[in-house]
Amino acid sequence: MLAEAQTRVRAVPTGGPLGADIVDFDPGHFSDEDMAVVRQALLDHLVIRIRSTDIDDVAFERFGSRFGELLPSPDFTRSRPVYLENARYVTIISNVTDDGKPIGEHGDGELHWHTDLAFTDTPSALTMLLAREVPPTGGNTSFANMYAALGALSPETRERIKRLRMKHQASHNAQGGRRPGYKDIETDDVREMPGPIHPIIRTHPLSGRQALYLGRRFGAYIPGLPLAQSEALCDELFATANDPSRVWAQEWKLGDLVIWDNRCTMHRRDAFTGLGRRRMHRLTTRGERPV
Ligand code: SIN
Repeated sequence: MLAEAQTRVRAVPTGGPLGADIVDFDPGHFSDEDMAVVRQALLDHLVIRIRSTDIDDVAFERFGSRFGELLPSPDFTRSRPVYLENARYVTIISNVTDDGKPIGEHGDGELHWHTDLAFTDTPSALTMLLAREVPPTGGNTSFANMYAALGALSPETRERIKRLRMKHQASHNAQGGRRPGYKDIETDDVREMPGPIHPIIRTHPLSGRQALYLGRRFGAYIPGLPLAQSEALCDELFATANDPSRVWAQEWKLGDLVIWDNRCTMHRRDAFTGLGRRRMHRLTTRGERPV
């Protein structure tokens, strides 16, 4: 209450199943009271957006570090450096090329539903994207509410997954190609692919609420189940998780800064092939082992 009384910053919900705009907030100049409102909004709304930001990458990195320890993207996912020289935790997601070489990751194709770094032992907690260049249309990013997804499962499925865990394969990327760090992996059998095993229901360390926790559908496997049963259950869980009734889509404008919590959301991106240049600057924070 005291914090709110000393700041004009406030959260305005999107009206969708998650997400809020933070208004009267400048990520380049803010007080501890302002920051308290922003942190609470992220806990309450799972995704927050700050529009028309006007900060350089050093200030972006400084602001991002107020949410936790910043992480470089892991070496085994990258075939080339994609960070900024003057702000080493800021990586680039872009379809732009310079002298024929991509300046960032992920090109212009669709990115299927996932949570960031679920294929590592300690997936990132938060991801922040700052829009530096956006095409006139396309490349929207959609977010799904994983607290709500858990609540939407039947009581039988919920009871069943309490005792189960999911393997999040690490060796293959979303397109099915092998990641740079796993070039010698031969298998295409999801039971054999390497990757961490996480609970399917996880408890958010700050909110104390339970959420459905999934990574990518490609390569997901539920250890202990015959393959056909694992596939059927994975299909059911992902269909529930990504149901449009629990999704809100961000249509990017220049200067938008969007922050999401990977512990209680999933996200995907529309393809934007042929629609223009898109360049996002990204930060992630260290997360914890899901429990
Ligand atoms: C991501 O999935 O990490 C990137 C999302 C986007 O490019 O909008």
